[in-house]
Formats: sequence, C-alpha cells, structure tokens
Amino acid sequence: MSVIAQKCPHITVNVVDINPSRIADWNNEDLDKLPVFEPGLSDVIAETRGRNLFFSTDIEKGIREAQMIFISVNTPTKTYGIGKGMAADLKYVELCARQIAEVATEDKIVVEKSTLPVRTAQAIRTILTNNSKNIRFSVLSNPEFLAEGTAINDLHFADRILIGSEDDEDGKIAEQKLVDIYANWIPRERIITTRIWSSELSKLTANAFLAQRISSINSISALCEKTGADVDEIASAIGADSRIGSKFLKASVGFGGSCFQKDILNLVYLCRHFELPEVADYWEQVIKMNDYQKYRFSKQIVETLFNTVNGKKITLLGWAFKKDTNDTRESPSMYVAWDLLHEQAEIHVYDPKVSKDQIMKDIEYLLNGNYETEDQKTSILSRITVHSDPYNAMKEAHGIAVTTEWDEFKTYEWKTIYDQMYKPAFIFDGRNVLDAEKMRKIGFSFKGIGK
Ligand code: UDX
Repeated sequence: MSVIAQKCPHITVNVVDINPSRIADWNNEDLDKLPVFEPGLSDVIAETRGRNLFFSTDIEKGIREAQMIFISVNTPTKTYGIGKGMAADLKYVELCARQIAEVATEDKIVVEKSTLPVRTAQAIRTILTNNSKNIRFSVLSNPEFLAEGTAINDLHFADRILIGSEDDEDGKIAEQKLVDIYANWIPRERIITTRIWSSELSKLTANAFLAQRISSINSISALCEKTGADVDEIASAIGADSRIGSKFLKASVGFGGSCFQKDILNLVYLCRHFELPEVADYWEQVIKMNDYQKYRFSKQIVETLFNTVNGKKITLLGWAFKKDTNDTRESPSMYVAWDLLHEQAEIHVYDPKVSKDQIMKDIEYLLNGNYETEDQKTSILSRITVHSDPYNAMKEAHGIAVTTEWDEFKTYEWKTIYDQMYKPAFIFDGRNVLDAEKMRKIGFSFKGIGK
C-alpha cells in the first residue's frame, strides 16, 4: 500500500487494522521502529505518510470512504478441525467481508490480496451480496509476488502484476480500475489479467514451483555429499541452460518463510479435496524433502560432534528465514534449534535483526504444538540463550551453524572466533556463505551444504 501511495500521489490510501499498537508503530515518528524491517521501506513511508498514506484503527470510516478495499489479512494454516495442518484458515477474510458488507453504504470494489485457495473470491462475493442493502460489490483477485528483503524493489520493478476478475461487465470495469492504478508505474504489458480462479491458483502454483526448485537442488546436495560433487558447481552448470535458469538454485538448510510451506499445503489439500491423490502426493514431496533437509543438517551436527551434543554450546548464526528481514515464520533455524535442544545441546543464538522476545516466542510456539511436559518445557527454555553480540555468542562454542545468509557473517574476525572456541572448532555452513578455504586455513573443521 505504501508503494501504491508513493507511485499514485493522486490516490488516498488508508491502512486500517484492529490492532492499536501495530497502527501506533506504523505511525511512529522514529522510522527505525516500524513493525516490519524491510530495506527501503522507511524511505517510502517517510515520503508518503501524512501526504496520501494514513494508518488508523477506524476501520468503519476506512470502509465507508473507500472506493476500493484491499483485504490483506493473514490466512494461516488451520490449527484445528477439518483440514488441520493443511488448509488455509479463512476466518479473518470472512470477518473482513462481513464487516465490509455491514458498514458499506455505496458500491465497492473488493480486492483479495491475501493468498487464498481457489474459489475464495466467490465466497467473499456471496457473503457481500447476501448481507448488503442493494450495494454492488465487485471482487478481484490480485495476488502479491514480492519477496521479503527485496520487497520494495520487487514492487517498483515487478516481473508481472496479476489481476483476476469475474467474467461479466462489472468484473471487467473493476479490473480496469485496478489496472489503471498499477499502470502508473508498471508497463502495461506486465499487467496480466485472467479469470479469477486462474489468478488465485497462479499464486499457489508460482510458490510451489519456486519451492520445488529449492527442494530439487537440496535433494542433489545430499547426493553431492556422498559422491564428492559440489552442489554450487552443479547449480551454476545447470542454471546456465536458459530453459532452467539460474535463480532459486541455492542449496540451503531448507526453505522457510510464511508462504512456501503454507501454499503447498494448501495446494495439497485442494488436490485431496478434489480427489486427486497422486497430484497431492507429488507436491507434498516438496515439503517432505524440505523437512528432510533441515533434519539432515541437525543430524550431521550431532554425528560430527562425536555423536553427542549433550551439554555442548552450539551457536546458531541467524534466526530469520532469510537475510534482510526480521521475519522468522517457518525459519529453518528454528527447527535446527529444536532438534538440537532435544539432543540436550546448549543453544546460543545471534541474529542481527530478530529480537530475543521473538526467538523465545518461536520456541514456545514449537513447545506448545508438541505437547511437552512442564519439566521438558522448562529444561528446553533454560538451554537457549540469545545474544546481541556475535562474538560473545560464539565464545567457547563447540560448534557454529550458519542458518541465515546475513552478509555481515562474512566480515567477522574469524581468527579471533577460532581462538576462543573449543577444539576441534566446527562450522556447519547451512547457507554456503562463508569462504570454506579461508576457514580451513584458520583451522576450522568446516562443512558446507552439498560439498
Ligand atoms: C516467496 C516468493 O518468492 C514470493 O514471490 C511470494 O510472494 C512469497 O513467497 P519469500 O518467502 O519472502 O517470498 O522469500 P524467498 O526469497 O522466496 O525465500 C523463501 C525461502 O527459500 C527462504 O528461506 C530462502 O532462504 C530459501 N531459498 C531461496 C533457498 O534456500 N534457496 C534459494 O535458491 C532461494
């Protein structure tokens, strides 16, 4: 929304939310305190906030005054009932639709921006039309393809904008209005219009394909480790084929983030629902391979440290699911920590942007989902320490695991770190970001992914 406000000064953008502290954070004078860390975002907010971008908790006013409403609430994986652990929980979307229907006094275009499984637009429309007093609602689907850490650039120079609309006259008029907004900065040929279900399913498919590439290269990383091939060499060799392309072939400890796993689970759920078990199993394997990759990494740490990490200090460098974000949703680091905590390790964490509070919340979230006893919980929580200084985090460690690819890790005084560690000093580079040769020269016992 801030980029729309930036590129369209003639449009007023109101962002409304029920959470007052979140809105207060977005209104914070200190732009370093915005609730989301995203390179370039504070500049966009500085330019637009108070000009044509406003943050408020007055949802009803927001609905009444808008000609177009973007539903951008979260759609987490269901944690209860039918479809538990797989289907998207559409509770928040439905509540939004009901509130719009209740409050609106004139025609509205409602845009679904949240990632939703196919056919949700129809559900939104049914709720809107059944609850309103002769008001016309058009529903559009406009999935978001930005990636965290590069969001502003992805929005400024989008590969494509996708808009799905209903196949009738109203739908086409609404579609044109949204096209006109993006056309302020996106070349028209990059704005793709489709039928609404194709648009909804395209988002799930794009994420499934991207995640599949990572699981594919990660599966090969396991084979490389057995055979003496190098996965990065393979990635650049195959990526040079223009049919394959070079992006998203970086082997890693596994993919994380709020989208890939959730969207694939949704796709799998949809396939099962439509009685396509073979298709469901096909896509589910992408997730299984990712779980295997995370587990394989932790297992390698335990095996290399002479089959026990009990009481040993293991330092995780990075907690965010990728660099340049403070988002930790589904971060592989969290699962590596979880495995090692169950092996009785002492886990020390340093991340340049993730707060201690968030790290503890993530572990508690895993604890709550796994029905540990109170004693186990206390023991696990007592064995995790969060640091604000990376050198302290690594002092007297038995092993270091790089779980996020933050650039600053490359610039550390690695000789000093080596001198202060127990020997042999192990590094497990889950992102292949450190210079293996340099590390080995210093004296580290160094293991990368797929090497
Ligand atoms: C993703 C999609 O890229 C984006 O289009 C969609 O809108 C939302 O989901 P995001 O989750 O923000 O974006 O990050 P992305 O850059 O795709 O990375 C996802 C995960 O895959 C990260 O954990 C990342 O470290 C990992 N990854 C990515 C790899 O392990 N290897 C790669 O080659 C690329």
